Amino acid sequence: MNETGTTIPVTAPSAPAFPQARTCPYHPPAGYPKPAEGGPVTRVRLYDGREIWAVTGHAEARAVLTDPRFSSDRTHPGFPAIMPRFEEQRELPPLPMLGVDDPLHARQRRMFISAFGLKRINALRPQIQQVVDGLVDAMLAAGPGAELVSAYALPVPSMVICSLLGVPYADHEFFESASRRLLLSRTAEEARVPRIELQEYLGDLIDAKRSAPGDGLLDGLVAEQYADGRIERDELVMLSLLLLVAGHETTSNMISLGAYTLLEHPDQLAALRADPGLMPGAVEELLRYLSIADGLVRVAVEDAEIGGRTIRAGEGVVLPASVVNRDAAAYERPDALDVRRSARHHIAFGFGVHQCLGQNLARAELEIALATLFARIPSLRTAVAAEELVLRPAGSLQGLIALPVTW
Ligand code: HEM
Repeated sequence: MNETGTTIPVTAPSAPAFPQARTCPYHPPAGYPKPAEGGPVTRVRLYDGREIWAVTGHAEARAVLTDPRFSSDRTHPGFPAIMPRFEEQRELPPLPMLGVDDPLHARQRRMFISAFGLKRINALRPQIQQVVDGLVDAMLAAGPGAELVSAYALPVPSMVICSLLGVPYADHEFFESASRRLLLSRTAEEARVPRIELQEYLGDLIDAKRSAPGDGLLDGLVAEQYADGRIERDELVMLSLLLLVAGHETTSNMISLGAYTLLEHPDQLAALRADPGLMPGAVEELLRYLSIADGLVRVAVEDAEIGGRTIRAGEGVVLPASVVNRDAAAYERPDALDVRRSARHHIAFGFGVHQCLGQNLARAELEIALATLFARIPSLRTAVAAEELVLRPAGSLQGLIALPVTW
């Protein structure tokens, strides 16, 4: 009863909201459903009140990600928009590779497979080391003290993806700003301007490469696939946009948040320092622990039984990677950062046919950037209190907007 004497109806507690902001940069939001509490398949509520499925169990998530009854087609009417800006995607030409299903997905992915294969990426390691050394030299010369995102975490992957694709690094301020505005936009209105700026920039670049080819991956595609009419200009522009944005925004968040997380876990950092051979495993563990791409999305195109629940055709599904990667059924002491554990079966890079194309590159960059940073600046420490750090908002790649450090 309330003070006017009427009875307030008792409603079932509504499903938790998705996405939610993190309060600690390396832990999942406290309000996300956990497989041990709500079961591996449960419900969450989107910003517009719509409820969709949330798959939080590790085995169940991998089952969904390898099941062709779950589609990545962002233009499907049932595909869940986890932020208002994604509503617009239904009206736009399909987001290539990431946002389409096989066989189109496989055709697009094939164009890039060998360039991102382990052999080609390992051959880039000396070049990545050179980039990293140059940036540490510059920080040491200008310091003590730096803002680690802009001085290090962002330029490492940005310089490397530019050289790999054949995009001039001289334009980095423009494309880094446009990419960040695009990924941090909330509404379709906010996303439109940076998306069009990037499309126009890359369109002009592709046109220029027709007459004056260089030696980047995009130059090769222009000379072969585009010149032969096997790919349309619009498709090539959107694929370039995906690779340029995914190629720097993701890894930069992992480098800065990875460095911060190690500084916050001095025992783990000490173990890494004592045995640098632990670095590849530590990178896997950081990928699992931080799960910066925290919300993979699919729509069911046929009825499917997952974790004892029936997901009907047309229903949306979200997989919160930060929760999936801490399922106690898959990892012992899942909330502990342990650089010695075997974390390789995480879904931080996704799983199945859409598993991250750039994962070998990201691993190489992370290993070299983190190892070099802590080896060359042994007294590195955070320069502000944890409460002063500004975290990236919910619904975008997770990480830190800035990380002031000193030594
Ligand atoms: C630590 C850094 C990175 C993380 C955490 C990450 C995460 C992911 C995830 C979770 C997916 C799967 C999405 C889904 O299934 O819906 C994905 C796909 C993809 N990633 Fe990454 N990524 C990273 C770095 C990169 C880099 C460096 C590139 C380079 C160009 C890249 C390019 C792509 C592309 C093109 C896809 C789509 C693949 C497909 O649909 O077949 N990523 N990434």
